[in-house]
Amino acid sequence: MSASDAKFIIEGKEYLFPTLEGSEGEKAIDTRKLRAETGYITYDEGYGNTGSCSSDISFIDGEQGILRHRGYSIEDLAEKSNYIEVAHLLIYGELPTKDQLQQFAERILLGALLPERMRHLFDGFPAASHPMALLSALINSLGCYYPHLSSNNRDEELENFDEAAALLISKVRTIAAMIYRMKHRLPMIYPRRDMGYIQNFLHMLFSEPYYEHFAHDDVCKALNLMLLLHADHEQNCSTSTVRMVASGGANLFASISAGISALWGPLHGGANMAVIDMLKTIHASGDDGSKFVEDAKSGKAKLMGFGHRVYKNYDPRAKIIKEASNKMLDSLGIQDDPLLDIARHLEEQALNDDYFVERKLYPNVDFYSGIILQALNIPTDMFTVMFAMGRISGWIANWKEVAEKEKGRIYRPRQVYTGPQLREFVAIDKR
Ligand code: SDX
Repeated sequence: MSASDAKFIIEGKEYLFPTLEGSEGEKAIDTRKLRAETGYITYDEGYGNTGSCSSDISFIDGEQGILRHRGYSIEDLAEKSNYIEVAHLLIYGELPTKDQLQQFAERILLGALLPERMRHLFDGFPAASHPMALLSALINSLGCYYPHLSSNNRDEELENFDEAAALLISKVRTIAAMIYRMKHRLPMIYPRRDMGYIQNFLHMLFSEPYYEHFAHDDVCKALNLMLLLHADHEQNCSTSTVRMVASGGANLFASISAGISALWGPLHGGANMAVIDMLKTIHASGDDGSKFVEDAKSGKAKLMGFGHRVYKNYDPRAKIIKEASNKMLDSLGIQDDPLLDIARHLEEQALNDDYFVERKLYPNVDFYSGIILQALNIPTDMFTVMFAMGRISGWIANWKEVAEKEKGRIYRPRQVYTGPQLREFVAIDKR
């Protein structure tokens, strides 16, 4: 038995299984042969104790509140880098040289336009459609216009990967803006070639045929930071979905479309919309948040933007966004934002309440993000679309990691069956 083997005793028989240790000391029992050798599977609903893969992209230490992308701390990247650079880092494993950044940024700049015929797809959707339903549908549809990038021929897709990656990072912005314009029955605004990534997005969102919207630098910086902070986060629900779909051999567009659907859920990326709705409800009720905290403790409500499967400490992204929201509101001259006051009160109360302290519930990335997005006049129902615009670079990086894996296996978990045992079929007149 090697020092690192795990010994199982099952029905009186001893079994040894090897263990693995990651580059940051994450330890795992390698149970890939468990069923073959013991007839048993593991059971871990919600996968809280299960590693689905090994990955070189991001690392989280939930107890310490640490997040790193390819070894760089989120604090360093937030202070010294920008979204496009971090997208390159996540996807290709290294911060770009000047030439690499210029080539990557140029592909993204030149890739902003949608195929003209695609514009007609927007006409077929009801204006009341949820932006995340539209984004998922339209990202998958985008692949139809680029068959060489969405053929499910893995070799061909890897050969054209750089084109697909830049195209998706560029066009997700255009699609997001066009969704907003369609929903508000506004004319579509084309991207410009003389604008940066975020400024072009805000131009497509808020310009009019007779008026060009030039976003303030501080606004672009704040939104750039938001996308950077949402770029990747280990094997969260939506990234695991992307990897699951990719493992079956599906192309990048289909895999990302599935990830968008997973992100939509209110327990995941939909929480940033739910936080603002929660703050507005509390504000409208005249409560300063104290009653709401009691409701959350009694299970009558959930404190949206609080808690995390992995972080049992402050989400480092929440800290950065909280500081940025204060600066953003100051630069926009917004002194007393009632929703921010309620958010601060909720946080202060929850961080000093045993219910939350015992369960190690801290603010997560979604708690303050809505405050910034709202201050930037981004409509609430577009908040999770903004999350997806950031996370798309992490999804692309994870899809590439699955696609490039030699002999990669399809993700196909087992289950514990609890339904009825074998029974005889009964004809309808005898039921
Ligand atoms: C994101 O995984 C990622 O990395 C996600 C993400 C990313 O970047 O991809 O970080 C983005 O999704 C952040 C999370 C956004 N979601 C929310 O803010 C929704 C509110 N949070 C909860 O729904 C919950 O905390 C989860 C979903 C985030 C985590 O759920 P878990 O790990 O399954 O925890 P749990 O539901 O089992 O809760 C454990 C206990 C329970 O109480 P008891 O049964 O022990 O009495 O904590 C309680 C829960 O009731 N609890 C909460 C709570 N979150 C957990 N109680 C009140 N309010 C909350 N928000």
